[in-house]
Amino acid sequence: MAYDPKGPAIETAGLVKVFGETRAVDGVDLTVPRGTVYGVLGPNGAGKTTTVKMLATLLRPDGGEAHVFGHDVVREADAVRSRVSLTGQYASVDEDLTGTENLILLGRLLGHGKPQARSRSAQLLEAFGLTDAAGKQVKHYSGGMRRRIDIAASILSTPDLLFLDEPTTGLDPRSRNQVWDIVRAVVAQGTTVLLTTQYLDEADQLASRIAVIDKGKVIAEGTKGELKASVGAGSVHLRLREAEQRPEAERVLAHCLDAQVQLEPDPVALTARVGTDGNGEQAAEQASRVLSELARAGITVDNFALGQPSLDEVFLALTDRPAVATADEEVVA
Ligand SMILES: Nc1ncnc2c1ncn2[C@@H]1O[C@H](COP(=O)(O)OP(=O)(O)O)[C@@H](O)[C@H]1O
Ligand SMILES: [Mg+2]
Repeated sequence: MAYDPKGPAIETAGLVKVFGETRAVDGVDLTVPRGTVYGVLGPNGAGKTTTVKMLATLLRPDGGEAHVFGHDVVREADAVRSRVSLTGQYASVDEDLTGTENLILLGRLLGHGKPQARSRSAQLLEAFGLTDAAGKQVKHYSGGMRRRIDIAASILSTPDLLFLDEPTTGLDPRSRNQVWDIVRAVVAQGTTVLLTTQYLDEADQLASRIAVIDKGKVIAEGTKGELKASVGAGSVHLRLREAEQRPEAERVLAHCLDAQVQLEPDPVALTARVGTDGNGEQAAEQASRVLSELARAGITVDNFALGQPSLDEVFLALTDRPAVATADEEVVA
């Protein structure tokens, strides 16, 4: 393939990886433009990590091709390695060293001089809100701090392409927001980011384009607007005061929204999709109409939330079946 300096950061065609009976990656075609965050969204076991590992030259593909900045990941693995950085479960941070010690050591390994390694370390710790923890051993860091030092380590020298493999899974909302800010700052410096996630709202917050993968295959790809248009704006979640009022509430919802209403295992809870044309404002309007109709019917609502679609709902819309692993509910109101 002729090298095109403006070409995509990543291009794969029919990429395959097989583990015994499992086709972990089963013919994946991806085109990741430069200078953007590209989201790969999928449940546990979808093949996200295996894809990333092949692109980062840590695993050899069993079929298909992948190029990173025009370099073949198998035949030109060294050239690929010199351009990429990886974080996630492979971080090279040493638990017994402090934040500062880790970053200085890694900086030295990258060939930075001592003063440069020191100042870069201090600068990153400051930028990542870790100055107070700089002198603590990493094993005493919280989950959010750990994730931040991992990312700091991976951008010690600004990589052209950064792989972030589920950087916020298991983090509390505040740490998650901090990681998101970091990702935005990294992209603003010109780095291309391939981000894998199980959270639609994370892909929505960060990515320009999103590929949804399931069982090793890309089942949808497009801008986030395109994806949302096919999936809907979200759901209303209701909890009633009285379980006896649920059948009546179900009738009101079905009438009001012209959508299927889901009865939750909890006998006072119901859920219904709203705004399937992807228009967020309309979703809010529909939700407020539901509330007034319920009040008019004399139904007491204890709790109400308008949620973005969960990964489960995305999968339901795209495949007519739920994702294998249940995603967290992402309530926004
Ligand atoms: N080293 C391995 N040996 C055998 N099976 C594996 C290995 N790595 C991953 N798999 C399987 O491949 C599939 C995809 O895994 P993975 O890429 O880790 O998914 P994800 O990162 O999306 O959760 C899963 O079924 C997983 O069990
Ligand atoms: Mg994974």
